[in-house]
Formats: sequence, C-alpha cells, structure tokens
Amino acid sequence: MIPHPVLSHRYARSEERQGYVKELFDQGAKHYDPVVGWGFLGTGAHYRRTAQSRHGLKPGMQHLDVACGTGLVAVAASQVLGGDSTITCVEPSDGMLAVAREKLPNARFVQSRAESMPVEGEAYDFLTVGYALRHFADLEATFREFHRVLKPGGRVLIMEATRPAGRIGSALFRLYFGVIYPFFVRLFTRSRKAEEMMVYFWETMDTCVRPEAVVSALKAAGFRDAERIPLMGIFSEYAAVKA
Ligand SMILES: C[S@@+](CC[C@H](N)C(=O)[O-])C[C@H]1O[C@@H](n2cnc3c(N)ncnc32)[C@H](O)[C@@H]1O
Repeated sequence: MIPHPVLSHRYARSEERQGYVKELFDQGAKHYDPVVGWGFLGTGAHYRRTAQSRHGLKPGMQHLDVACGTGLVAVAASQVLGGDSTITCVEPSDGMLAVAREKLPNARFVQSRAESMPVEGEAYDFLTVGYALRHFADLEATFREFHRVLKPGGRVLIMEATRPAGRIGSALFRLYFGVIYPFFVRLFTRSRKAEEMMVYFWETMDTCVRPEAVVSALKAAGFRDAERIPLMGIFSEYAAVKA
C-alpha cells in the first residue's frame, strides 16, 4: 500500500520519488532543526520523549529509530534510556545523518531506507518512526520489515501529523502547514529548499492515506494490538506489538 499517490509536479514516476526525497532532505538538513523547533513552538523534544516513555521505552532496551533524520527522536530516546549506546539509527540522507551523528556519539548509524534495512532480525525491543511514514515506498512491506527486526514482544511507535477529517479543522491545518509555515520558513532561512521541504511536508500529509489504512497495514504485517491514538486532532501515534 503506497502512503500517497505520485506527486507529478515534484517527480514524474513513483521510482523517482526516493531520489527526489533524498535530495530534498540532503539540502534541507541544515535548516531542519531550527525550522521544526519554531514551527512546533519548541514542543517537539518534550513530546518525542514523553511519547516514547508512555509507550514503554525503558533503560536497557535496544532501540531502533527508523528515518532518524537529524536525530530528534533518538536524542529524546537517549534521555529515557540514560545514554545512546543501545540506539541504532537508520536514515538514507547523508545530510540528515551528518547532523544526527554529531548529537549521538555512541549510537550506531546505518545508512539505509526503511523498506529493507541491513540490520539483524529479532534484535530490537523498541522501534520508532518520527514524521516519516509518508516517505516509505509501501506501508505493509515496510511494516513487515519492522516486524522482522523486532524481538518477540517488541513495540513499534510511529509518530505522525495527520490532516483532520472535518472541514474546518482541515482548512485551518491547510492554512498553517500549506501557507503560513512555508512562508515563514522561506523568510527566516532564505532557502528555497527549506521552503520546498515544508511545502512537501504539507503535500504528503494532505494526500496521505487515512489512519485506518495505516492501522490495517500494521495488522496485515503481523502486528497485534495495532491502534491509532489521536492527539489534539492533528497528531497520530500508531502503536503495535510483535506477538
Ligand atoms: C521529516 S524527517 C523526520 C526526521 C525525524 N524522525 C524527526 O522526528 O524529526 C523525515 C526523514 O525520513 C527520511 N526518509 C525518507 N525516505 C525514507 C525511507 N524510504 N526510509 C527511511 N527514511 C526515509 C528522510 O531522509 C528524513 O530524514
């Protein structure tokens, strides 16, 4: 199941999507942390940490952060774990990886896409994805890969922003993420790529499959207790357990 259709004004065919996304994040990497920091009013670090605690992350666990980007989820995890030595970060973009490596000196880094990760099976207690679900080529296949690498009883937590279903909420969401946020990103960074990164963020949220489809894909990949926890009408936590 593809998370969103081809966005033909960005790339012509689905096979070109990963190349487009990689270049976007390679070039936008240096702007990512400040842009995400003020766009979410500085709440991101606290949220990423408490969400992982609520879903059962504990010291001693082997943690896999998929699509780690600049390391925001992994840094938050290291505060719960009491260090970064049991963290493995998977990420395809050189630019994002370079920023993450600086912050997590003892973590292991694997340059890879989520769909097929060169990491051992049944090795991780806790797997996270922060705001990257929309970039995977196929949800069910990627979730099968998550299922492969988790230990029995291991948990997956996927954090995502989700366009509200109602008309008014959806219009406000569109106004903020589609217009206001990219405008200020361009103004403050003076970078076209940073602006495009945020417009693409909006476009993929707008066209993303609905939450029920994500939960179905988790179940189809073999997970049990798959659920979506909505937050403030605009965020989703998808959680599931490997039996
Ligand atoms: C919006 S950033 C999220 C970064 C970080 N997880 C966070 O919470 O801030 C999305 C990340 O997904 C990565 N990405 C894109 N396609 C991917 C894929 N197929 N597999 C794994 N990561 C991917 C991008 O390179 C980018 O770093």
